[in-house]
Amino acid sequence: MATADLMDKLVSLAKRRGYIFQSSEIYGGTGSVWDYGPLGVELKRNVKDLWWSSMVHQRDDIEGLDAAILMHPRVWEASGHVEGFTDPLVECSNCHRRFRADLPEVADGQCPTCGTRGAFGSPRSFNLMFKTFMGPVEEAAATVYLRPETAQGSYVNFLNVQQAARQKIPFGIAQIGKAFRNEITPGNFIFRTREFEQMEMQFFVEPGTDDQWFEHWKEARMAWHLSLGIRAEKLRFHEHGPDELAHYAKQAFDIEYEYPFGWKEFEGIHNRTDFDLGRHQEYSGKRLEYIEPQSNKRFLPFVIETAVGVDRTMLVCLADSYREEQVEGEERVVLALHPRLAPIKAAVFPLVKKDGLPEKAARLHETLRKASLPSFYDEAGSIGRRYRRQDEAGTPWCVTVDGQSNEDETVTIRDRDTLEQARVAMDKVEGWMRERLNG
Ligand code: GAP
Repeated sequence: MATADLMDKLVSLAKRRGYIFQSSEIYGGTGSVWDYGPLGVELKRNVKDLWWSSMVHQRDDIEGLDAAILMHPRVWEASGHVEGFTDPLVECSNCHRRFRADLPEVADGQCPTCGTRGAFGSPRSFNLMFKTFMGPVEEAAATVYLRPETAQGSYVNFLNVQQAARQKIPFGIAQIGKAFRNEITPGNFIFRTREFEQMEMQFFVEPGTDDQWFEHWKEARMAWHLSLGIRAEKLRFHEHGPDELAHYAKQAFDIEYEYPFGWKEFEGIHNRTDFDLGRHQEYSGKRLEYIEPQSNKRFLPFVIETAVGVDRTMLVCLADSYREEQVEGEERVVLALHPRLAPIKAAVFPLVKKDGLPEKAARLHETLRKASLPSFYDEAGSIGRRYRRQDEAGTPWCVTVDGQSNEDETVTIRDRDTLEQARVAMDKVEGWMRERLNG
């Protein structure tokens, strides 16, 4: 399938099935901001829950944090964002649109919007942070920023968390939260947006042990992506060369995914050294050193960071699971999402609308919902059409209540991917699904 085709199909499926809508669509949309609909919000929660569980719940050495989006403006001076989080832009003197100076057309001297040649001024730095004002006065002294990453909230709270949770180095702080960047070249659907969510973990280690922890987190993060069912051949590492390394990093690897528009960053794993803690110590005037309990040795820990976007993970999951196939003589579109990610776990159908089957199916649907297994009841249309609707939504299991159910209280469960049908006792359906979700 051609690249543009697949992206167009994903955008259209996402809208049709209630995964993702353009923000403020009835007003013509807002540039590169998206809203998550009924199925999208469930997929998003599942992505975040799986990350949180693997980072925080399944480990003793990582603590959770939810820092505020608005922080003291000095934070962004210390972090280097005020000075360095910029792109060089040029402005067209004819149409007054601004462009990144490194765009090929711009380098050729022609405005991509109005076509005028030679109308660009000299490049100027443009900061990607969104600015706003705190309090009732709109003046420079009241300027605050919408955070462009969650990481700084973890650094400024490093000692708070360490002391409150009585953690010892090495340990980590995990956060999931919104970040904002006034990207100049956003696009590719939810790949690069101006408002997005990050799942970031900062792991504080003793200097000298950083290389070994870096290797650990590189492998652990790749394993996590594979555990979501993402195809191994679509994932790879990319090491940052000296010209790509961020100002804070000693070493950095991206996990890249082969999107329909090519190999691009999915997640970043960075050795940030003691840059951030050192800078916050300097700018705040407060000591941020860790004191080792036995030896009383003091040091500024190094930080190994893992940073991935929630929205970008959703794009990967959607793109990776989208298939068009021929089954039972018909074409079907299927989202082969890992059952743990699927927004709806089970769809329950009565085969026909008589003989008490709708009531029986509705009772099963209710039981599954009460057991926190998101379920969808559908009695409209042929069974084939009902299957197709669920395939497209990514539902792994369709449960059909039929004539035999009245005789022996069993139902069929059809697997979305293998199309196999299993006959299962109605009171065992929940357990059957749990086994597969946990396995
Ligand atoms: N704290 C380090 C940091 O923020 P980053 O590489 O700039 O590093 C980390 O961002 C991850 O956040 C990226 O790998 C990507 O998954 C996601 N991300 C960054 N900018 C994004 C944007 N504009 N839209 C969507 N996701 C974005």
